[in-house]
Amino acid sequence: MRFLIVSLFIIANVSNNGKASLESFLPSNDSILLSDTTKSSNKSCNRPCKFNVKPRQCRYDFEIKPTFGEDDRPALTINGQTPGPPIHVCLHDIIVVKVKNKIPNQDITMHWHGIEQKGTPYMDGVPMVTQCPISYGSVYEYAFAASSPGTFFYHADSVLHHSDGVYGALIVDQPQPLEPHAALYDYDRSDEHTLIVGTRFPELLTARLEDPSYIPPDSIIINRNEDYSKIFVIPGYGYRLRLINAIALECPLVIQAYRHVATVIATDGKPVQPVTTAAVKIYPGERMDVVIRADQESGGYWIRVSGEGLCEGLNTYAMLLYSGFNYTSMLLDGPNTDTESKLEDKETITGQELQSARDVPSVNNVKSIYLKIDRPHLKVKDDDIDFRYLSDAVPKKPFFPAALSLRDDVVQINGKNFLYPNAPYLLKPREVRPETICVVGEEKNNKQPQCILVLNAKLNEAVELVLANEGHRSNETYTFHMHGYGMQVVKTWENPGNTPLSKEEFHKMERDGLITRNIKNPPVKDTVMVPNKGLTIVRFTPTVGGSWLLECRSCSFSLPVAIIINVPLSIPKLVIDSLPSCGSYRPADVLLN
Ligand SMILES: *[C@@H]1O[C@H](CO)[C@@H](O)[C@H](O)[C@H]1NC(C)=O
Ligand SMILES: *[C@@H]1O[C@H](CO)[C@@H](O)[C@H](O)[C@H]1NC(C)=O
Ligand SMILES: *[C@@H]1O[C@H](CO)[C@@H](O)[C@H](O)[C@H]1NC(C)=O
Ligand SMILES: *[C@@H]1O[C@H](CO)[C@@H](O)[C@H](O)[C@H]1NC(C)=O
Repeated sequence: MRFLIVSLFIIANVSNNGKASLESFLPSNDSILLSDTTKSSNKSCNRPCKFNVKPRQCRYDFEIKPTFGEDDRPALTINGQTPGPPIHVCLHDIIVVKVKNKIPNQDITMHWHGIEQKGTPYMDGVPMVTQCPISYGSVYEYAFAASSPGTFFYHADSVLHHSDGVYGALIVDQPQPLEPHAALYDYDRSDEHTLIVGTRFPELLTARLEDPSYIPPDSIIINRNEDYSKIFVIPGYGYRLRLINAIALECPLVIQAYRHVATVIATDGKPVQPVTTAAVKIYPGERMDVVIRADQESGGYWIRVSGEGLCEGLNTYAMLLYSGFNYTSMLLDGPNTDTESKLEDKETITGQELQSARDVPSVNNVKSIYLKIDRPHLKVKDDDIDFRYLSDAVPKKPFFPAALSLRDDVVQINGKNFLYPNAPYLLKPREVRPETICVVGEEKNNKQPQCILVLNAKLNEAVELVLANEGHRSNETYTFHMHGYGMQVVKTWENPGNTPLSKEEFHKMERDGLITRNIKNPPVKDTVMVPNKGLTIVRFTPTVGGSWLLECRSCSFSLPVAIIINVPLSIPKLVIDSLPSCGSYRPADVLLN
């Protein structure tokens, strides 16, 4: 199905004159959502985290709109910037973000990548799953607790909005003595020492929603600096750096500080057994915390970030500068790429090779579910696919996610394309049309090529997912992100034969004992890579109810490649009534008059 969309980026400026009265549909009573006792909402939440002090409520206003950046490039910005403002809070603080959508004719939501949303599943930011999308001119107030420490980030849920610039860092600190690896470093200054890496494109992707051609990124960028980000260090001291791959394409990043080693201490916010390495490889959506010690000759060193996959050939650099070093000539000469950057594979470590800092509780009798991931056997045409959020509440004004056309053959899970539910799955499950649902494992009962894939899981019952990148029709690596839960990554299997995989072969390998699992201390991650023609096996125990997406963040520009993991939960009617319902957003054309 095709829809005529006029990209009204000029009108964006018209609507910006302040005349439009924006109506917000905030939950009327905060205490329904969260028990927060703090008053000090407007003190900066970026502070040293201490014991025995009350958590704070940390408020942010995000206005998202198309803007021209300093380099005259269009981008979707948050308060005029991309990446958006970093959020730095302490453990147990309450984060409140008012997101105002000023992107004409488009609907957005914001996802808080890695945040568990314990008790607030409706703040997870997935349109038509955990909330109604925020239509143009509307506001949604996100409020959730920073319930575990670590390195996170936020981004628009749609891959296109995210790629156009809607993302930023989110760091949750805790008192230093609680940090398991505090002895390995001297400084943990997350505001200065976070490198969040994104891509830039020659055009605004969301301005050409119907154009199915693929536009490759033309640069990768660290933080907001078009120039080099600078990390100043004092000789002899150890520094904790937080590395975030905030790219929504299949672009692994290899990060290396010349002539220094890095000690990895955490991945996806969870501590690991420290490993020292020359370089780290971080997949899209992954984070790694590393310690770099200023133990070399005083001077200036390049930190190289090089793209792989779809970002092959793109590099960017930051600077590691010892205090007192005059780096003028370094800036003039630019990075020396040839001599210093050669790396052997074995000098690079990935998140899935790490082991968690503590042994994990073992799980017996876990039910194993095979998910077949591949490009479709038959070419899928635009006409076969519905790109709308098919809301029943406002049938005359369909909500649009940021895609109206297939840019490629969308990757399928168990042979199905993703369909947005007609009512928010979490909030109004009884309103979701049953014939649009495919139950994982029983897909054959639904003849539609596009459906809402749902895996029904039970509270506190462990699930094992075998993510199988079968590779019959692609040679790609895919990266999946789990909302709500950390996954124990018990196996990453690269296929030595490099031949396409099938469920039967997997079962045969299981019977032959070829698939061993690390159930003692697997890394616990929210983002995992699934190798080409290989397997990644993850386990998780649903500890809180909700409708949680497991999605490929790097498979498609057009529609999500996802399943919903549904864990029963009853949300009080009071809460549901206080959240915006899909029909209650004001349509954009009213605002413009
Ligand atoms: C909010 O809800 C709490 C608990 O339900 C109640 O005690 C309080 O009076 C409410 N506040 C307002 C302003 O309605
Ligand atoms: C805190 O915020 C309130 C309302 O937004 C404002 O009136 C007050 O002046 C602020 N206080 C400080 C110390 O900034
Ligand atoms: C740093 O080096 C540049 C060129 O090498 C020189 O012009 C400049 O004066 C130096 N700055 C300081 C503060 O020494
Ligand atoms: C994948 O790679 C193999 C071997 O290099 C090649 O024969 C095959 O055509 C590729 N498949 C796709 C879909 O690109």
